[in-house]
Amino acid sequence: MTSTPHSTLPRRVVVTGATGKLGRAVVTHLRDLGVDVLAVDRAGGRDPRDIEGEFMLVDLTDYGQVVDALSGSVDEHARPVDAVVHLAAIPQPGLHSNAVTFANNSSSTYNIFAAARALGIHTVVWASSETVLGLPFDTPPPYAPVDEEYAPRPESTYSLNKTLEEEMARHFCRWDPELVAIGLRFSNVMEVQDYAQFPAFDDDPALRRWNLWGYIDARDGAQAVERALAYDVPGAEVFIIANADTVMSRSSASLMAQEFPGVEVRRELGEHETLLAIDKARRVLGYDPRHSWRDHV
Ligand SMILES: NC(=O)c1ccc[n+]([C@@H]2O[C@H](COP(=O)([O-])OP(=O)(O)OC[C@H]3O[C@@H](n4cnc5c(N)ncnc54)[C@H](O)[C@@H]3O)[C@@H](O)[C@H]2O)c1
Repeated sequence: MTSTPHSTLPRRVVVTGATGKLGRAVVTHLRDLGVDVLAVDRAGGRDPRDIEGEFMLVDLTDYGQVVDALSGSVDEHARPVDAVVHLAAIPQPGLHSNAVTFANNSSSTYNIFAAARALGIHTVVWASSETVLGLPFDTPPPYAPVDEEYAPRPESTYSLNKTLEEEMARHFCRWDPELVAIGLRFSNVMEVQDYAQFPAFDDDPALRRWNLWGYIDARDGAQAVERALAYDVPGAEVFIIANADTVMSRSSASLMAQEFPGVEVRRELGEHETLLAIDKARRVLGYDPRHSWRDHV
């Protein structure tokens, strides 16, 4: 492969959670741009030789393994690392006990930030979550579209941990004034094959009320990661990352009126406009989602 990375992108990047739903799209996208990617995951016991491209099995709850992965000093992977994209996590509430989710996700993210600091890596892009916005909205959102301007409202242990990770990122940035720590509050991750189920959502608006009918195409999620890697202003920032439309055929305004009649809608909404505002990501990162489920069904 002879292509060179986009000039503003880091040369070599470690991507965690690389065999997961979002990780696969991110690794492909960055490699297509010519970025030198070391993909890591614990990968459920799979043989690393079966995984395409440069890959290392790493359990992120073990600090020594994280330091090794990020140090660029492990035998076949011995090249300096410029940035980390940290996507590995137990990705939703209820898959494991709360304590297991908290222990796995919090220690993994602490180890990533701590190892990056120890090794002088100044760019960390990591997956926060839409859940910190108050999902499943049993308590309605303060206004819509929701944005990054109100304090997190975690309603699960998974989300509590993402909230604490956002706070942790701010303190790592205080300790290292050169650190750029970008938390991407992804909506519900979708691949093209998932879109076949979308038309059925129309039957009952309550089905997807829990995340204001939002979603993120994994390829657009990968674009957001690319834009975040190119962002070079030190400090901790968070961005909502969703697609530009909802999962529904009926209008966004009518969904709000039916399911959240008391919630202030702060602007005139486009027909299918996302209720998870991506204005900040567009403005600051240049994020520009290209995909829609409507193109696939
Ligand atoms: N899926 C969603 O809808 C969604 C929404 C918002 C945010 N997120 C976040 O985005 C990220 C990626 O989610 P996904 O949907 O790709 O999930 P996924 O489960 O498909 O992938 C996550 C990967 O992380 C790996 N992992 C977990 N713990 C690990 C550990 N201790 N060490 C090494 N690897 C470990 C798993 O093996 C898995 O391959 C996660 O941080 C998740 O919390 C996901």
